[in-house]
Amino acid sequence: MIRVCFVCLGNICRSPTAEAIMLGLVREAGLSDAIEVDSAGTSSYHVGERADPRARAVAKKAGVEVSGSARQFEVTDFSRFDYVLAMDQANFDDLERLLPDGDYRGRLSLLRRFDSLSSAGASVPDPYYGGEEGFREVLEVCEAACRGLLEHIRAEHGL
Ligand code: 4NP
Repeated sequence: MIRVCFVCLGNICRSPTAEAIMLGLVREAGLSDAIEVDSAGTSSYHVGERADPRARAVAKKAGVEVSGSARQFEVTDFSRFDYVLAMDQANFDDLERLLPDGDYRGRLSLLRRFDSLSSAGASVPDPYYGGEEGFREVLEVCEAACRGLLEHIRAEHGL
């Protein structure tokens, strides 16, 4: 099993959206038996909460079902997940500080690195304090990056 974990700050807006999009793409590709998808937050602010209603509503309109409840990323997740995808540079830096001893650094990337059309270091913008438009952008940006990520995983694992 190949395991993928998307990580943002709260695990209520961006990472559960990316998780839902990736799940759909994995299903579409017939790879549900090979690739497992999860998400987490670097903070504990919203642990146990469902995804933000704005994220769920915008995704639903696009036919994407965002489910699950927020959890905080744990150090042991680095040994569980083959790919740990940070939504922005702050998430990346927080995760980097959590890296345990051992060779896990290569598992950590910015999600948008897998979108060939995005510039180096690009983030999935935090929509929390903005309006609905920000949530639509998250959906769009995550879809492009997740398509690239799936291609990358397929090539790397011969799937
Ligand atoms: P997320 O969005 O990291 O995409 O889940 C946020 C959720 C909560 C907060 C910030 C961003 N917050 O400050 O509580």
